[in-house]
Amino acid sequence: MSNKDLPIGIFDSGIGGLTVLKEIISRLPGEGTIYLGDTARVPYGIRSPETVTRYSFENTRFLFSRGIKLLVIACNTASSVSLEAVRQSVPVPVIGVIEPGARAAAAATRNKKIGVIGTDATVRSNAYPSAIRSIDDTIEVYSLPCPLFVPLVEEGWTEGAVAELTAETYLSDMRGKGIDTLVLGCTHYPLLKNILSQIMGPGVTLIDSAIETAAAIRSALAAHAMLRDTPGGGSREFYVTDSPEKFVRVGERFLGSSISFIQKIELESEV
Ligand code: DGL
Repeated sequence: MSNKDLPIGIFDSGIGGLTVLKEIISRLPGEGTIYLGDTARVPYGIRSPETVTRYSFENTRFLFSRGIKLLVIACNTASSVSLEAVRQSVPVPVIGVIEPGARAAAAATRNKKIGVIGTDATVRSNAYPSAIRSIDDTIEVYSLPCPLFVPLVEEGWTEGAVAELTAETYLSDMRGKGIDTLVLGCTHYPLLKNILSQIMGPGVTLIDSAIETAAAIRSALAAHAMLRDTPGGGSREFYVTDSPEKFVRVGERFLGSSISFIQKIELESEV
């Protein structure tokens, strides 16, 4: 098998990264994919950078043991705190979700006021504001952790009174900042797009990091002459660190298609 035919490896703390996988499949249907959801240790968003970095290395090592040509860190939290360390440790391109989202937000804003929402760990890391300011240091960035969105989405409560009230409570301050662009800095938030755009109003552009990341993956593969142009859909493999049932049930909704090959695995811990 030539390098070109190897799959793309993707990891996330759990189910959420399937929003990124969905965009990869829709833009690069010929590519094979191996997805690892660390469902036994989700959520990452409440953990320390050291712990999340250790998890990232363990996930990376597993995906490499399967043979991959490019690694995607689909989790915003893991991308925020461990992208550089992982990038330096592997011989293939590594794509995180922060840079693509930051680039798209910087390009979209007209009034140079951007909001970023994410997990506690992502907001604490300051990764989005520094990525945005490294593109244009005149942009003002307002960050806000919205931790309750993750369990809401995991439960499938992406519409209705509870989701609306939670979003309204979190975002009422953000609305007062006069932003014209809002980065959905967490894998789960694209599923709340309807409610978020209703609350923020038509003057605010929502940036979906998943879409931007898929575009960055295409560019990286093209730059390394590794795009798989063979006709026919690529293979799809899924691995989880806890039982697969809930992952399949909720994940099929995230992904919009069925999950057939799935296996529970034990990750080797870093020593
Ligand atoms: N995947 C995480 C992220 O994008 C959300 C869930 C978690 O906290 O692990 O930040």
